Amino acid sequence: MTAQRIDGKAVAAELREKIAGAVAELGERHGLVPGISVVLVGEDPASKIYVGSKNRQTAEAGMVSTQHTLDAATSQAELLDLVHSLNDDPSVHGILVQLPLPDQIDSQAVIQAVNPAKDVDGFHVVNAGRLATGLPALTPCTPLGCVILAKHALGDLSGMEAVIVGRSNIVGKPLAQLLLRENCTVTLAHSRTRDLPAVCRRADLLFAAVGRPEMIRGDWIKPGATVIDVGINRIPTEDGKSRVVGDVAYAEAVETAGAITPVPGGVGPMTIACLMRNTVVAACRIHGVTSPLDS
Ligand code: GUN
Repeated sequence: MTAQRIDGKAVAAELREKIAGAVAELGERHGLVPGISVVLVGEDPASKIYVGSKNRQTAEAGMVSTQHTLDAATSQAELLDLVHSLNDDPSVHGILVQLPLPDQIDSQAVIQAVNPAKDVDGFHVVNAGRLATGLPALTPCTPLGCVILAKHALGDLSGMEAVIVGRSNIVGKPLAQLLLRENCTVTLAHSRTRDLPAVCRRADLLFAAVGRPEMIRGDWIKPGATVIDVGINRIPTEDGKSRVVGDVAYAEAVETAGAITPVPGGVGPMTIACLMRNTVVAACRIHGVTSPLDS
């Protein structure tokens, strides 16, 4: 049987519509317009496309979106000065510094300089700690998008065996916390995991976040499992062009899985929608207003 295709594009569009409604409501009731500032350092082509989409989609939802583009040679002190000025700007509720940053800059120093109340990426240690201890937190966008898609396909995730492949701070670790909050039994696998295919075969819910094209094969998947593919890998094709594939060998996996996200059109579109959600949540918390999106 062929797996159900989980349409991240459609789920993200629905979420963006809800967010636009919440933004309109906040404007009418409280005169509050959520604002996000996106900081791009250098000329990374993928980052430029990503930042452009963030600006367009946040503006479409009625938020204020400002972009700060800095030269690739920007020093750490200059970038920190900008972050501090955004921390102090009352019209800015969300700050996102696009990663990766150039080599002369210590990414952690920059991430930890963002006011945790405005940390819409959810990367600050305060938000990571709050998430891990069950306190209200700004939650990293890609893992949040993964959980929304899993719940869209399955409903309640309680009691399920979830296996995450990849232990990054951006995806794997926060995703493990979010899945614990959903009462899953969580395994966080990584490059040193022994017999990774066997570990993956235990999963009712399999999340692939390793950044290696089509590493997870069809026979690693338990029949009927739900597969969420976080990977976005560009690979060369025979005609000299390139195409984007995930971390899962989709053509194989679709024969075994019960449901699966495509690449592109799965997790990718959810990330920006969740960033917009976080900006609304941050704006409401900063202003002491109940968020129309919290429930
Ligand atoms: N680069 C790739 N993904 C992300 C993300 O989620 N946040 C930031 N700030 N940079 C990224």
